[in-house]
Amino acid sequence: MKDFIAGLPKCELHLHIEGTLEPELKFELAARNGIELPYADVAEMRAAYTFDSLSSFLTIYYEGMKVLRTEPDFYDLAMAYLRKAAEQNVRYAEIFFDPQAHTSRGVPFDVVIRGLRRALMDAHAQLGVRAQLIMCFLRDFQAEYAMATLLESLPYKEWIAGVGLDSDERGNPPRKFAAVYERARQEGYLLTMHCDVDQDDAAEHIRQAIEEIGVDRIDHGVNILEDQRLVEVVLARGMGLTCCPISNGYVTDSMKAEGIRKLMDLGVRVTVNSDDPAYFDGYVQENLVALHDALQLTREELAQLERNAFEITWLPRHLKDAYL
Ligand code: ADE
Ligand code: ZN
Repeated sequence: MKDFIAGLPKCELHLHIEGTLEPELKFELAARNGIELPYADVAEMRAAYTFDSLSSFLTIYYEGMKVLRTEPDFYDLAMAYLRKAAEQNVRYAEIFFDPQAHTSRGVPFDVVIRGLRRALMDAHAQLGVRAQLIMCFLRDFQAEYAMATLLESLPYKEWIAGVGLDSDERGNPPRKFAAVYERARQEGYLLTMHCDVDQDDAAEHIRQAIEEIGVDRIDHGVNILEDQRLVEVVLARGMGLTCCPISNGYVTDSMKAEGIRKLMDLGVRVTVNSDDPAYFDGYVQENLVALHDALQLTREELAQLERNAFEITWLPRHLKDAYL
């Protein structure tokens, strides 16, 4: 089945580009930028990747990305991911980036987006992988900073498919960003948002995301199963969920495979994605294999997961149809 999964044309919809920063590249960029890392080598760095919750992961994630400083750094980061994606038969990816994680430490917005955009263009031309960017706001920063970031993005609107919301969910409900999302919608951005697995008030956060914000998609979102009404709304609207099994296993008590199974059986457009593969040790191929090992998925079910993903992409209909 591993070979079958390897051969499936894939679609990645939940991937933080900063979460693809592998230790080897981290060392390379640190050397390039004259930054000293607190680890002797790659093995020591990997050994420090010990997290058991979203917040303990985020501490290491933000620390790690400090080696990213220049446009070529962002280019190299995205190119490395897109090469890996091409190897795994990923045909299309929607890629999150966290501009505030960089502007907050003095790296200009345009440095980040120009490097990423150039990699996306080159990867399409050289590797045949198509990709778009989704700009995420950090929910543990103030809404005013998110709004300023949104305004700063407007000259680059053609390079950004939509907006998302990530980082530490505790005490940072969707509602906090209602005005930012309203403006983003007016500007023509599509809308998604993390509703991380098993966070405090998880189902209430999903309700706010759907009913108050009107998101087009939900990142993670497995906790809709706690509220039948939410399941019905998601089904009625044909909304997609971007699930990340291996990531779930790191930041909660399990991969949530049974929940994903239930959602599939209900006909929800569930998809399988990799979140932060350099930290969770699994790209989309490994995530599909892990879910298959847990649920004994059939070939048809695996193919359906990828059809779900292509169906809920933020591509125009004719491009979607070319993948389906
Ligand atoms: N930022 C990067 N990965 C994340 C995750 N899994 N949840 C929330 N914010 C994130
Ligand atoms: Zn995520």
